[in-house]
Amino acid sequence: MLRPRYLESSLLLLAVACQSSGLTPLARPFGGIGSNPHVNVFGSLDRPVEQSSSSLKMGFLEDWISATDESTMKKQNEKYLKDLQVRVERINAMEPSVEELSDEELAAKTVEFQQRIARNEATLDDLLEEAFAVVREAAWRVLEQRHYDVQLIGGMALHDGKLAEMATGEGKTLVATLPCYLNALRPNKTSFVVTVNDYLARRDAEKMGQVHKFLGLTVGLIQGGMKEEERKKNYQCDVVYVTNSELGFDYLRDHLSYTIQGTVLGEAGQLDGFCVVDEADSVLIDEARTPLIISRQIPAPENKYRLAKQIADNLRPNVHYTVDLKNKNVVLNQKGYRDTEKALGIESLFMPTSKGDTAWAPFVSNAVKAKELFNKDVEYTVLFDPLTGDKRGIGIIDAFTGRVLEGRRWSDG
Ligand SMILES: Nc1ncnc2c1ncn2[C@@H]1O[C@H](COP(=O)(O)OP(=O)(O)OP(=O)(O)O)[C@@H](O)[C@H]1O
Ligand SMILES: [Mg+2]
Repeated sequence: MLRPRYLESSLLLLAVACQSSGLTPLARPFGGIGSNPHVNVFGSLDRPVEQSSSSLKMGFLEDWISATDESTMKKQNEKYLKDLQVRVERINAMEPSVEELSDEELAAKTVEFQQRIARNEATLDDLLEEAFAVVREAAWRVLEQRHYDVQLIGGMALHDGKLAEMATGEGKTLVATLPCYLNALRPNKTSFVVTVNDYLARRDAEKMGQVHKFLGLTVGLIQGGMKEEERKKNYQCDVVYVTNSELGFDYLRDHLSYTIQGTVLGEAGQLDGFCVVDEADSVLIDEARTPLIISRQIPAPENKYRLAKQIADNLRPNVHYTVDLKNKNVVLNQKGYRDTEKALGIESLFMPTSKGDTAWAPFVSNAVKAKELFNKDVEYTVLFDPLTGDKRGIGIIDAFTGRVLEGRRWSDG
């Protein structure tokens, strides 16, 4: 097949590369975004500044600052891209000699790079161009896909820990192979490819994993429902394909473990390596609105829920409680408490009625909240087991994407 050397792809969606070292804060498991300036690799910022009289009075300073920011950013971006283009040309120049290598010689390049890094003879940046040329050749031999020049630029931006925006269908999956290979060359460092669902993780591991394997790296895949041992084995690979929620929950569980043996993510749950986030808008913005919460499941007192629902159905808004739509909350008033206590025949909603029991207050207030604020198939849906058809629980629906957020629970029950 003829190599498509001169084809140019335009631009594509959103992917993020982040570097983390050691323990990173839970709120930003792959820290570094904040510390790395955001570069819109192909964006243009040609909006003129309007200075209406009102902007002179009210928003002049803001307009002036944002205009300065925009032109500075644009200049920086152009310079950055120009530098990357020079590197692309150097990578292209290496192509004839890399093409000459046999499969074994190409794979041996990985060992050579690893040794040079281990001996401190070269940094990742020194190796970038040759490593990218090697990955491009491997992808051509294994998948018959040769990285376009813009895909090399995308790979370099990700290696720099930046945000690369690429439109749908333009080959982000292939782009990720470049920085992931390069960063996995460091001893004991993993490259994570984080994506939004198990299907994509498997698809990418099976397809793109072939390129890494051809070059002698190990490839791991994490899927929902995997046992601890299997997870541990897969996380030890050089390149790991995983969803954001699996990785997030493994990170949280590792931090609850009392022993190193009980962790799956390497030493004491430390995330040390490199990470590319595919579909970054969904992972880092939409899904990040619902925090991952890890909590112990306690047996649900079914009777209490049923009774609380009956009571909630009889309580009336603005008589027994007020609804705070803005904060998605419901507050019972004095009459609400008194009537509920009377109906239940108890002295206080806040005291357990017997030893080992829990107070009624959270049951009643959650039941009223469910009645007023949570609608079936809008905020949540009932999940069924695909094999038996039995109900298996409730799934929270993501307000932005309409997708069910598997494994998530609301924080107050
Ligand atoms: N350099 C290339 N040479 C040949 N085919 C390519 C190349 N890059 C990508 N493709 C093909 O383009 C198609 C789209 O690629 P991919 O799924 O990675 O796009 P994407 O940018 O991730 O899109 P989406 O936003 O839909 O996830 C795939 O069939 C892929 O094999
Ligand atoms: Mg994709």
